[in-house]
Amino acid sequence: MNRPVVLKTRAVFALRLTLSLIAAPTAVWADDHVGAGRCNDCHRAQYEQWRTSAHARTMERLDPAQRRDPRCLGCHATSPTGGLLGVQCESCHGAGRHYAHDPVMRDRELARAVGLSSGAEPAVCARCHTADSARLIPFDYARALSKVQHGVGGTQPKAPVSAQVSP
Ligand code: HEC
Ligand code: HEC
Ligand code: HEC
Ligand code: HEC
Repeated sequence: MNRPVVLKTRAVFALRLTLSLIAAPTAVWADDHVGAGRCNDCHRAQYEQWRTSAHARTMERLDPAQRRDPRCLGCHATSPTGGLLGVQCESCHGAGRHYAHDPVMRDRELARAVGLSSGAEPAVCARCHTADSARLIPFDYARALSKVQHGVGGTQPKAPVSAQVSP
């Protein structure tokens, strides 16, 4: 993308962001999560890898009372108030309302500025993998990271799959 296009994209995005903040301050600040289904529009491979993971299925471990217990949902759900259960994409990559749009995602700097995290920071995991939550073996970041890796390099779709099918 050349510079003028990038600047225009940024200006349009900034305008939309401003309008959304003016129009719905409560909704915007209360919960900026969009859910894994939205990420799946463009990141099919990562979604498939995540879908069958322990993170995605962790609600199955809780009994019906625990599934409503805020003490458990803090770590076993992404956004209890938004009804997003399990450890979804946004638990590690940050709430996506402002970055999960094609022009923003293509501008890494902008995406980071409005909430995207690479996920690859020990602090991201440490929020839930505390000394208290450890099972038998204490959390080992390097080992744990190798278990959740889902980077697929250049093979991910660069546009929503629907947009690719019907140009
Ligand atoms: C409209 C399509 C689209 C949606 C929706 C989308 N992404 Fe992206 N994402 C992209 C594109 C395009 C890139 C840049 C890929 C590239 O340049 O290689 C990207 C890059 C990324 C990266 C890599 C960033 C980096 O710095 O390497 C992460 C992580 C990511 N997206 C996570 C998410 C998450 C989490 C969601 C859902 C909340 C999401 N994306 C929703 C299209 C999308
Ligand atoms: C501070 C974050 C946090 C909170 C709060 C939390 N958990 Fe967990 N829980 C975790 C993590 C992280 C793991 C995975 C630990 C591991 O694999 O080492 C886990 C694992 C589990 C497991 C699987 C354990 C096993 O032995 O396989 C169950 C069941 C569970 N938690 C239930 C609960 C219940 C019930 C609550 C609420 C009373 C709760 N958790 C609160 C973070 C948390
Ligand atoms: C929002 C809370 C949360 C965050 C953030 C989080 N985890 Fe977890 N993690 C959990 C819970 C809850 C479980 C227990 C899943 C189960 O077995 O039900 C778990 C389980 C695991 C497991 C054991 C299951 C498996 O797949 O082998 C690994 C490894 C793991 N997490 C790695 C990580 C890494 C690495 C990060 C950071 C990049 C991370 N987690 C971030 C909550 C979290
Ligand atoms: C437990 C935390 C965690 C969860 C949950 C998670 N990610 Fe990631 N993600 C990471 C980490 C850490 C990396 C960097 C290491 C790697 O490449 O796997 C990463 C990398 C990525 C990348 C860049 C990959 C590349 O090819 O360069 C994308 C895109 C991405 N994640 C999308 C997603 C989507 C979409 C979901 C949900 C379907 C998701 N992630 C769920 C932690 C997480």
